[in-house]
Amino acid sequence: MAYSNKVIDHYENPRNVGSFAKDDPTIATGMVGAPACGDVMRLQLKVNEQGVIEDARFKTYGCGSAIASSSLVTEWVKGKTLDEAQKITNTEIAQELALPPVKIHCSILAEDAIKAAIADYKQKQGAQG
Ligand code: FES
Ligand code: FES
Repeated sequence: MAYSNKVIDHYENPRNVGSFAKDDPTIATGMVGAPACGDVMRLQLKVNEQGVIEDARFKTYGCGSAIASSSLVTEWVKGKTLDEAQKITNTEIAQELALPPVKIHCSILAEDAIKAAIADYKQKQGAQG
């Protein structure tokens, strides 16, 4: 299967690979798996007191499209509020990367990872307050 140039770029030069310290309360973690293929994506967001995402990291065990999707969203979420990040859709990701239909679920994984991380952050905030 032919990958688009943008997928290849993100796959060969993935942005923001890695992880933040788990015990940092400003870090939200979203971990999701794709039932279709068993790939796993972990996305971490560093959120400041204003609810703005300052930084992001990912680790993805999966195909090139999944890695490119997660790399892309780590760039997209930076500087966004949690509410803005919540609105990122897999369709936008798939369009930006020109993903073919069989790879759409890879972009869904990235959307789900953002939503899972935001849910984790809200849960942590709730637990503190
Ligand atoms: Fe094997 Fe995604 S299906 S890496
Ligand atoms: Fe399953 Fe890409 S995440 S093939």
